[in-house]
Parts: sequence; structure tokens; C-alpha cells
Amino acid sequence: MKITLDYNNVMTEFVGKHGVSPADIASIKPQIDRAVSAMKTKRDTMAWRELPYNQEEIVNDIISYVNLIKDEIDAFVVLGIGGSALGPMAVQQSINHPYYNELPREKRGGYPKFYVADNVDPERLIYLFQTIDPTRSLFNVISKSGSTSETMSQFMIIKELLEKKLGAAAKDHIVCTTDSEKGNLIKISKEEGYKTFFVPSAVGGRFSELTPVGLLPAAFCGVDIAELLKGAAAMDALCSVDDIEKNPAYMYSVLHYIAFNKGINISVMMPYADSLKYISDWYAQLWAESLGKKFDREGKEVYAGSTPVKALGVTDQHSQVQLYTEGPFDKLIVLLGVEKFRETITIPKLYSDLPSLGFLGGITQNQLIQTEMLATEYALLRSGKPNMMITLPEVNENTIGQILYFLEVATAFSGELLNINAFDQPGVEEGKNATYAMFGRPGYEEKKEELDSRPKKQNKYII
Ligand code: PA5
Repeated sequence: MKITLDYNNVMTEFVGKHGVSPADIASIKPQIDRAVSAMKTKRDTMAWRELPYNQEEIVNDIISYVNLIKDEIDAFVVLGIGGSALGPMAVQQSINHPYYNELPREKRGGYPKFYVADNVDPERLIYLFQTIDPTRSLFNVISKSGSTSETMSQFMIIKELLEKKLGAAAKDHIVCTTDSEKGNLIKISKEEGYKTFFVPSAVGGRFSELTPVGLLPAAFCGVDIAELLKGAAAMDALCSVDDIEKNPAYMYSVLHYIAFNKGINISVMMPYADSLKYISDWYAQLWAESLGKKFDREGKEVYAGSTPVKALGVTDQHSQVQLYTEGPFDKLIVLLGVEKFRETITIPKLYSDLPSLGFLGGITQNQLIQTEMLATEYALLRSGKPNMMITLPEVNENTIGQILYFLEVATAFSGELLNINAFDQPGVEEGKNATYAMFGRPGYEEKKEELDSRPKKQNKYII
């Protein structure tokens, strides 16, 4: 049940001059060797790499907690953002029924409905309160730092609402996932007595899906979290091989790196399965925040990182594929395919007198989506656009564990090739600090002055 990477169509012998040649790969051997060696020597500093192996006790704790609570609640709500929300969404959407919340409880395996509030849009939160009964809900506040304004503002709103309705029992409706020592949330959790799960301090937000950040929400949706970790462990074995021709994550990074240096600065991920749509959302954040860096490790301005773009097959064949085939040579397109869908549906044999419809009769939608994926792959090839295909034999906990881990290793390896720090996000700070300054938060007076001295907008440029 192993996922595969087929990169034939990235190679020049298939796709032509905008592809990557064996000589291109050979020419960056020193960088590859350095990156391979760094992945080994730095493994100790990449705590996320050990997550498939060191969480047996945590998994048991989570499962016991879920079994204790699940019948008491109708809705499980994640309050988080970025790395604290995208992973939970990606796993739930890939494993569960697409209309999960609309199903009767017994068809959800007895598990509660699942919601994620990952924005501060006031309409969304009010509408959520109109949809769920907060007194029959469990709110999972996920924030590694414990200081993210978006998540903490939601927490404050919900805490007040629950306390008004439930008094002291409000605390039983909040579970926190945060750093065990640092930040406001752990302090608040201890003082107010919330059940708490921990994000290991050495695991960064976007690499934390396989910690309680992702495992707790997944378990509340009936996902087999032990199997998720097993899939990740299987992928770790593959991704620990030094030879890039045997290591799918390394090869994925090498091809992206060479393509990027040739001006291909967009990385499209296009799953051909609705269930995988949110995997590309999760991946976009992982790739963008990790690799989008102004400086390399020596402090040189490099402006690194290809821009991740999310697309969905076949839907976006009727939206973006025109650009992918006939537009600029600036994209490397990753098609994500599924060999065996969980359901099969046959198109009835109707309209056999109309050749443009009759050919559909008797084939399955499974065949149609897979054939359309191969047809798009062919169209991209014909137009000289480099593309590769990742295939999941099936979508299940094991293969999802594999793909999450694969993309994490690919991202970290890309960081090594680019010689940048893939684990920080200084570019996010500027916007955060400007928000604090605009609200007059103490300690941000200088930033406020800087902001106030920016050029005033002119009416002549506003229509
Ligand atoms: O990858 C990251 O570090 C970020 O995307 C964070 O996950 C995001 O900013 C949320 O941070 P926190 O979990 O501290 O609230």
C-alpha cells in the first residue's frame, strides 16, 4: 500500500527543454550531497521526524479521552489557524465521508460533528453558534505559541459564552493543545483547569500534524490515528535512504529545485479526488511558509521559494488547465491520483444514438476521473509543461500518513538545497506586529510611529 512518485514527465527526454535532464541533476551533486548529509546530521533537531515512533502513550491517552467524552458532545470544534488548523482539516476531509456532518450520528460511527473555525470573520463564528449548541460541544483550542490573536480571540469569545450558559462546568467544554511550558495558553489551562494535550516544543506549527494538534481532532472523527502514524513510519523508511533515485521525497525536492533555478517558480498541486483537496491546502502552507525566504543561511538576499498553487482535478480542468497548458513555462504541476476509490458508480447506458454522450454509457465515474487525469497529464506533456504524478493506492489512514510525511521531508530537504531555514517564518511577523501596533498594544509604540509615518494614501488613486 505504498504511494509512488512518477517523474517521467519532468525529464527533458519526455517534456523537452523546459524539463530537467540527468545532466542538470548531476550538475548539482555537491548541493545534493550536502543536503543529504544535513538531513542525517540534523535529524536530532527535526523532532517531527520521530513522531511516528514516540507517541504510543499519547495515542492511548487521546483514544481514552475521546471514548470518555464523545457521547457527551454533538460537535467537536477546532479553534486554530495555519499549522494548527490545516492539518486537522486535511485529515478529516480525506478520511471521512464528504457530507460527514449531515450524516446521522450512527453513520458517523457515533462520533460528533466536526467544525474548524480558522478565521476571525465575525459572520463565520456567529453562524457557527447558530448551527451548533455550544453546551453540547467541545472546543479544541490549538495554539502552540498560545499567543496567536486569531485563535485566542475565538477562545475568549467562546469561554465567555460557555461560562454565561454553564458557569463552572464551562471548563469541561474546552480542551487545549499547546506547548507544555511556554505561552499564555498553558498558563491559562493550568489556572482554569482545562484538559490539555501538548505540542512538543521542538516541533514547529506546520510540522505538527502528527502531534496531538492533528491526532486529537482526527480521533474525535473516528480516524485510526495509530494507522496514520504507521503510514508516516513506512514513509520515513523510504525517505531516509541517501540515494535520491530511491528516495521519493529527495527526488521531488531536487526536481523542484532545478526547475526553480530555471525560472519555474510555481508549484501546482492538483489532486484528482475531492477527498485530497485539503491536502493541497495543507501542503501550500507547509511549502510557502517553509521555503519563502528572503535570506539564506549566510545572510545573503536570495528571495527563495516557488509559489504553491492549489487546484482540483477534474474541476479545474474547466478553469485553470488552459493556463497550465498554454500559459508561461513557469509551473511544475504535481498531479495527485488515487488508484482505487472507496466507491464505484457506473454511468447508465443512455443516449446511445448520440455519439458525444453514448460513449459514456457503461463506464464508471472512477474510470472517467482517472482517464481525465491521464488525459491532462498528456496535454501537459504535449505542451512541454513539466509534470509529475503521485499515486495513492487508496485514500486511507496509512496512505495519508505517508503523504503527509513525504511532503514534510520534501519540504525540509528543499530547505537544505536552497540553504535557507525552513523552520522559521520571519515574514509573517511584520503583519502581526503591525496589527499589534494598530491596536496600541504596549511594547509596540515604535512600530506605531513607523506605521504612522508611512506615505498617506492619495484620493487620486482611489476610484
Ligand atoms: O507553521 C507555523 O508555525 C504557523 O503556521 C503556525 O502554525 C500558525 O501561525 C499558528 O500558530 P500557533 O499554533 O502558535 O497559534
